[in-house]
Amino acid sequence: MSPEEMLKTFPEQFKWESYKMDILSYKRIIFCGMGGSGIVGDIAVCWLENREAPVFSISYRGYGLPSWVERGDIVICTSYSGNTEETLSNFLKAVEKGVDVVTISSGGKLEELSAEKGITHLKIPAGYAPRYALGFMLSKILCLLGIEREEIESLKNHLRSRLKEIAKKGEDIAQRLFGYLPVMYATPLTEVGAFRWKTQFNENSKTQAYFASLPELHHNEVVGLDNAQIRNKCAFILMSDPQDHERVLKRVEITAEVLKRLGIVPIVVKGSGDSYLLRLLDLIYIGDWASYYLALKYGFDPLPVKVIDYIKGELSKGS
Ligand code: PA5
Repeated sequence: MSPEEMLKTFPEQFKWESYKMDILSYKRIIFCGMGGSGIVGDIAVCWLENREAPVFSISYRGYGLPSWVERGDIVICTSYSGNTEETLSNFLKAVEKGVDVVTISSGGKLEELSAEKGITHLKIPAGYAPRYALGFMLSKILCLLGIEREEIESLKNHLRSRLKEIAKKGEDIAQRLFGYLPVMYATPLTEVGAFRWKTQFNENSKTQAYFASLPELHHNEVVGLDNAQIRNKCAFILMSDPQDHERVLKRVEITAEVLKRLGIVPIVVKGSGDSYLLRLLDLIYIGDWASYYLALKYGFDPLPVKVIDYIKGELSKGS
């Protein structure tokens, strides 16, 4: 499947399934995963927080598990390939601690080890690049967390109906970013979207990219704008969500003003939709398309991530 075809399947990747686990009865939920499989945990944490779910949740990246994880918590390990060593390490640590675990992968060692240790494993379709399978992984997690069937249907329909407009928007943004370092200025509710944009520019478009968030960026990042030699190499993207704190929204306006005074016209992006989840996924989908078109502009194939494969290969030697 071409990257364009994979991108087009995003809305169709969402499917409601009924799981019997009462995830919210746990004390804490620890989402583990890296790269394209790690972002699903970030989105889940934001979703739970936005719904004021009565459970503490965290997205964890790295080896092992935080020392405070204990029985009564649940660890959800997601790895598209099922072979990412950090995620396998999280899994093994959770099993060692006797903590409940659920795993999600298209196969690999995570599936094998789950079967061996009697752990619930949720399988997703193979044949995608991990970051193009976001919908499959997120859908499983949202269902585990108890999302209603109607919500999944409504987000599927929303993304489907917006696909053409979103792809066009992505193409226009890619046009403006060509030749520049993409810099996303985000807010608490769009920070995960900005992080996804960064990683998609890195992996698909093969370019450096970075992001900073309000209100923190008003205490450091903005001073860096004084340096015209560096800022002229950047293209600035401003993101926000209508549900952000009113003082944050005020800060977004001030940021636009500060940029304007420096002669910078930022690209203003807002996800559309009548719920936070819809807007976040809408925003993410715009960035996915922008990174795809930017790859084409630079003459890169969006799919291969040679250096990631090289590093994984080096790490697997002798292990
Ligand atoms: O999108 C990618 O290819 C990467 O970001 C991977 O997701 C990352 O390296 C982790 O691999 P996996 O998703 O197979 O656990």
